[in-house]
Amino acid sequence: MSAFSANWLDRREPVDHRSRNKALAQALARHFDGWRPLTVVDLGCGTGSNLRATAPLLGPEQHWTLVDRDQALLDAAVPRLTAWADGWDGSGGELALFKGHKRIDVRFRRADLADGLDAALGPAAHLVTAAALFDLVSAAFIARFTAALAARKCAFYTVLTYDGDQRWTPAHAADAAMTEAFHSHQRRDKGFGPAAGPAAPDLLSESFAAARYTVREADSAWRLEEADAALIADLGQGFATAVEETGAVDAVSIKSWRAVARTAAVVGHADTLALPPLR
Ligand SMILES: C[S@@+](CC[C@H](N)C(=O)[O-])C[C@H]1O[C@@H](n2cnc3c(N)ncnc32)[C@H](O)[C@@H]1O
Repeated sequence: MSAFSANWLDRREPVDHRSRNKALAQALARHFDGWRPLTVVDLGCGTGSNLRATAPLLGPEQHWTLVDRDQALLDAAVPRLTAWADGWDGSGGELALFKGHKRIDVRFRRADLADGLDAALGPAAHLVTAAALFDLVSAAFIARFTAALAARKCAFYTVLTYDGDQRWTPAHAADAAMTEAFHSHQRRDKGFGPAAGPAAPDLLSESFAAARYTVREADSAWRLEEADAALIADLGQGFATAVEETGAVDAVSIKSWRAVARTAAVVGHADTLALPPLR
């Protein structure tokens, strides 16, 4: 059973897509311009949101492997990918998507990254990517992951890694205490050892730079406004529940924090593009 439902991933997908850093996306597209075919591994793929946002940046012939530990999410990815594509073919046992002039072959791999990184990564791909994953992993995992990618000389592109910035409108007296407690919840073990949480973007940049990659990190904050009111409300309630679980903020403050109707919120994220050294 996953902490991430397909329904929640559906709700965040439009916000995730509009929040991705455009300059970094263009840098990725420039790097792989002319590469054909291109092999891509998407870690913690959920229902395939990252493919739907990233494949349009890449060349006409792509081979994707979508990796997740949650079979229900891998199953839920198929109808979402075929609905997104202009056409598809599943007759050969593999899924082929046709989008514009691109052909995107998709395989699914059920694997737990924490149990066996090499098995999850498979053979060297040109690009390893992920979305909304790396704040869940530990610093030790990031070190192992960097070494595994450097050994394979893979490029790395990850988006929407939480960076610790949270701003709610209107402000509440308990905001700072709530955020501090939320971050202690974020650092709990999510299966990889103590989670990097908001430190993940910096840890990724430092780790790949130490492996002689060329690293760019850029802002991809969610900037939620009145039109996102339902999402802001859900996010706030989930945030308050996580805070409650820490026991670090008193119940009266949490109740009062929950009662506020918010009209805007910023949730900070970073995107990271790390390109391997030429030799
Ligand atoms: C926040 S969701 C993001 C999903 C998707 N990348 C997206 O952007 O919609 C995190 C994903 O990582 C997966 N995940 C978490 N821990 C994992 C692990 N140890 N091995 C493989 N997948 C994992 C979850 O099942 C979930 O699909």
